[in-house]
Amino acid sequence: MEKPLTQHIPASGAPLHLKEYEAVGGYAALRKVLQELTPAEVTDKVKDANLKGRGGAGFSTGMKWSFVPAEATGPRYLICNADEMEPGTFKDRWLLEGNPHQLLEGMIIAAYAIQATQGFVFMRWAYKEAAQIMNQAIADAYAAGYLGKNILGKNYNLEMQLHTGVGRYMCGEETALLNSLEGKRAVPRAKPPFPQVSGLFGKPTIVNNVETLSYIPHIISKGGDWFKSLSYTADGGTKIYGVSGKVNKPGAWELPMGVTMRELLEEHAGGMKAGYRFRGALPGGASTDFLTDVHLDVKMDFAGVAAAGSRLGTGTMVILDDRTCPVGFVHNLEHFFAQESCGFCTPCREGLPWTEKILYALEQGQGTYADLEQLEMHTKLLGPGNTFCALAPGAMEPLQSALKYFREDFEQHIKEKKCPYADHTHR
Ligand SMILES: Cc1cc2nc3c(=O)[nH]c(=O)nc-3n(C[C@H](O)[C@H](O)[C@H](O)COP(=O)(O)O)c2cc1C
Ligand code: SF4
Repeated sequence: MEKPLTQHIPASGAPLHLKEYEAVGGYAALRKVLQELTPAEVTDKVKDANLKGRGGAGFSTGMKWSFVPAEATGPRYLICNADEMEPGTFKDRWLLEGNPHQLLEGMIIAAYAIQATQGFVFMRWAYKEAAQIMNQAIADAYAAGYLGKNILGKNYNLEMQLHTGVGRYMCGEETALLNSLEGKRAVPRAKPPFPQVSGLFGKPTIVNNVETLSYIPHIISKGGDWFKSLSYTADGGTKIYGVSGKVNKPGAWELPMGVTMRELLEEHAGGMKAGYRFRGALPGGASTDFLTDVHLDVKMDFAGVAAAGSRLGTGTMVILDDRTCPVGFVHNLEHFFAQESCGFCTPCREGLPWTEKILYALEQGQGTYADLEQLEMHTKLLGPGNTFCALAPGAMEPLQSALKYFREDFEQHIKEKKCPYADHTHR
């Protein structure tokens, strides 16, 4: 099984340094691009590979690049989104800390494809080690002639800078990220215009996820057909999946796109810990709908998870076990989302703390049946189309699906006027 992204990451977790990266073929794709390919040809290769963005939405990467106007309109920017604050998601960190040059090479190639002259890595403030590693990698890439003026002796210039964010989930939303990078309050921008046309400082900008960009050197070196052949399904490539919760071996693995939830849980995560039973999972991080044991054979690609009623999201599953209170579990998530709301639009600013309060009261045994109706109403009012960005609809996904699949737990809290899980020693 090929694992292009992670095969060279040392088991020790230490980063692959420049010389080691070059020794396994690193920067050969960049050399090929600058010597043989036009920017449009690079974009076509990425389009042909059917690479879908790994930041959550799954939009075609090559297509996104092709929206950048071809004619010169002044500066343009390439940004790597390394904010990674989705609870349960820790896949990008592995790539940032383990193979920073793979990401940089992908970024330089992507920047060339859109003819950007400035790149930024926008990184979560808490990723201190990754920031140190990335700064070193950028310095080494400059010293080796992979960044700066006339890269590899060719007529292409690119500057690169690491920017660490202030630690807000909102900064991962691509237009809020742009505002933050400009030194403004991190609230989203109206779309259209899309960043591809008017992004950072009003100039054409591409924002892509760490995992997405890390695939680029491999697609250039080995081609779109090879990339597609790595997958079990129509979505190309491998995927970094993760599992967290009461499993024997929580972690992250690079696997063919389209493995089943069952394989992830039972083979890679080693199954549930003794004494715990699987009740459900958020398949793609905190802002995705629960799936349950009837969905274990769902293929974890964009279409497969969507058909089951959820989203692939970041591909990092968060498991709910039978000893953890689903109401408390969702309360915890809504607490996070309420805290991270940027406050720009009313349904989210007011609605998220409200849902959090209701869930808290329910968990304390002080809830009523009318509260369940209130929660249902919130899932609609904060749903798609009613808020300015996807934070609030994402926050409603675990709630609406918990009300659907674990309703008896909510009702039990009301009937018994206490949390039925409160006596459990292993919560
Ligand atoms: C609240 C919120 C937080 C987000 N956080 C991230 C993040 O940390 N990293 C990321 O790559 N995308 C994140 N996204 C998605 C980005 O807006 C954007 O779609 C993504 O960076 C595009 O990259 P891709 O095309 O490679 O998937 C977030 C979206 C929302 C609404
Ligand atoms: S949905 Fe929430 S996070 Fe998004 S703009 Fe509105 S208030 Fe801000």
